[in-house]
Amino acid sequence: MSGLRFELETPVPLVDLDILDRNLARMAEYAAEHGLGLRPHVKTHKAPRVAREQARLGAVGLSCATPREAEVMASCHHDLLVAHPPVGLKAERLMRLPREVDLMVALDSAESIEMLVAAARRHDRSVRVLVELDVGAHRVGVPTAEQAVALARLVKARPPLVYAGVTFYPGHIRQRVEEQPRHIDRLRRDLTATLDTLRGAGLAADIVSGGSTPTAWQTHQIEGLTEIRPGTYVYNDRYTVAIGSCAREECALTVLGTVVSTAVPGQVVIDAGSKALGREPRVEEGQGFGELLDRPEVTVKAMNEEHGILDLSRTAWRPAVGDQVRILPNHACIVTHLNDVVCGLRGAEVVERYEVTARGR
Ligand SMILES: Cc1ncc(COP(=O)(O)O)c(C=O)c1O
Repeated sequence: MSGLRFELETPVPLVDLDILDRNLARMAEYAAEHGLGLRPHVKTHKAPRVAREQARLGAVGLSCATPREAEVMASCHHDLLVAHPPVGLKAERLMRLPREVDLMVALDSAESIEMLVAAARRHDRSVRVLVELDVGAHRVGVPTAEQAVALARLVKARPPLVYAGVTFYPGHIRQRVEEQPRHIDRLRRDLTATLDTLRGAGLAADIVSGGSTPTAWQTHQIEGLTEIRPGTYVYNDRYTVAIGSCAREECALTVLGTVVSTAVPGQVVIDAGSKALGREPRVEEGQGFGELLDRPEVTVKAMNEEHGILDLSRTAWRPAVGDQVRILPNHACIVTHLNDVVCGLRGAEVVERYEVTARGR
């Protein structure tokens, strides 16, 4: 790859800070334009450096998946949603967050309500609760409005818990953007019916929290939604490009790797394997685990933990040992999760390094 040379030990994640800035600003503008609160999910970056920027741009709060993320993000925003059922010791750990954090959790069972209220009472801490709805992703969330009413009632009867509203994750809407309207339409109708039922039961939801990166630019069509929670949009990735939710130039995160071997005839091996890129599902069958930023026709076709094998069948380009390559990963969040530090670029210059502080448990 002619000219590409960073004085960095590889593999290492690189973030183009100009693209990151644009991605952050664009989503903040979209949310503001449609009167939606933006509560970005931090699982993509796990970095206070990025979270503080999201807060500066007006995020109403941050979404976290793990207690560790919440502990780290407590220094970035006072309003935190833990969008994962707080079952077992997690509930207790969350109660130890700094007092100034206005904590909110998502849950979908009577058991988790009882665990949460026991922990909240032990710590004399008020906690806002969002009842999780299953709107089609079939991961977590109650499937019927009646069950949502029952849980909301239970929360209301368990001070210091405070019933704040409902939440959902449209993880089933991962089609190409032009194929999404009928799924969004169905979601809108189902959500409206559930919100009506809750209102009828005297349990109107103040907060209706939903959204993802694949659906991000369509979420203003979902009536009743008060806030959105995209995460991947900060960096984007090969998957987000493939479904048309962003342009390739809007991908901020790449992995810098080095060609370490060409000894096996017809083969080029780089030092970025599954422990650098993640073994994420292919975008489409045969599309590999990542593609070169400057040569999209070259993919990482196979991996061991520390080795990636490039597919050179669609190119005449033949790199040499020592050449560097930038790989656009299938899934940005996994790359972040695998690294302690990210290098920030302006143009071709590494101008800063920031920590992925909230990784791990
Ligand atoms: C509960 C929840 N909210 C929001 C998001 C963000 O979605 P995306 O990664 O599509 O931006 C996720 C992603 O896994 C999630 O699990």
